[in-house]
Amino acid sequence: MAVYTENVHLTEDGAAVEILDQTRLPNEEVMLTLKGREELYEAIASLRVRGAPAIGIFAGYAIYVLAAQTKCRDFDAFYAEFKENKAYLDSSRPTAVNLRWALDRMEAVVLASREKPVEEIVERLKEEALAIHREDIEMCLAIATYGLELVRDGDGILTHCNAGALATSRYGTGLGTLLLAKEKGIRLRAYCDETRPLLQGARLTTYELQKAGVDCTLICDNMASLVMKEGKVSAVFVGCDRVAANGDTANKIGTSGLAILAKYYNIPFYVFCPSSTIDFGCRTGEDITIELRDPKEIKELYFEKPIALPEVKCYNPAFDVTDHSLITAIVTEKGIVRPPYEENLRRLFAQSGGKAWLI
Ligand code: MRU
Repeated sequence: MAVYTENVHLTEDGAAVEILDQTRLPNEEVMLTLKGREELYEAIASLRVRGAPAIGIFAGYAIYVLAAQTKCRDFDAFYAEFKENKAYLDSSRPTAVNLRWALDRMEAVVLASREKPVEEIVERLKEEALAIHREDIEMCLAIATYGLELVRDGDGILTHCNAGALATSRYGTGLGTLLLAKEKGIRLRAYCDETRPLLQGARLTTYELQKAGVDCTLICDNMASLVMKEGKVSAVFVGCDRVAANGDTANKIGTSGLAILAKYYNIPFYVFCPSSTIDFGCRTGEDITIELRDPKEIKELYFEKPIALPEVKCYNPAFDVTDHSLITAIVTEKGIVRPPYEENLRRLFAQSGGKAWLI
């Protein structure tokens, strides 16, 4: 499978969403066709589709697919049904703001078309979902291009989780620069954290980089300090699930530890994100809800036999918040933002038409 395959898209007849099931990677490449409410919800909750921007793209298509199944013919009944589906999909995962962002954007289309017949509203929802996807592709390319300003031939880049094409569309955010650099003949070496417990780094990041021909080396999460100490890491590149107004950033569990290590070793720590991941409605990281997941993911999911006794307690937060003071810069589609984030994020996005969420 090509690296830039659109792993989330609408089927040709527009009746379903097709995704590459990320839980089966890297061993099996299985496409799923989804159109039922429960299976659409489950695909997000079980991480069949994952990564903040990909969840947003999927949510746009999912709510359209459900709207297209409506039997309602008057606006009020249609809108009530739409809101119910929206709340249901929105409850599938709490941390990545792109989910709510995409659903809100779709709701705005419904409200702006309230005078139109239901069939026309449904058609507009389809156009909006396609636009969300198209814009993500453009944003990823812009982010990856800005990222090229931060690297030199021969650099070693440490990555965490997966912020590539699988998590977005085409290039990705955190991995976009590595993929684009490869196309431009700039040689970068990636050190990929395996990313316990769901192993997105091992299963997905190395899958994408290896297929693209980028030099990548898999390490266990607890090896990052040594690899940094050995001078192999020129910079850390991560994606993110929500950036608060002050620059505090939620990303996959383990990210904040890496940022602390990077500061100790004097290595720049860069966060990559599209404006759809910036939430000006969250003042600081304290306002970000951290998803807690099933303890079985730690003890059982990727092992042949459980690795701890059944009665052993587990704590499984899926994300952590990296303090803005540890972030060297945030790379967005509008440019590279440096501290003070509160001021500079607002300035950049206010000047560019206020596209970021809730500005
Ligand atoms: O739980 P996941 O796999 O959805 O977590 C994903 C991440 O933490 C990514 O780094 C983030 O969504 C950015 S993807 C461009």
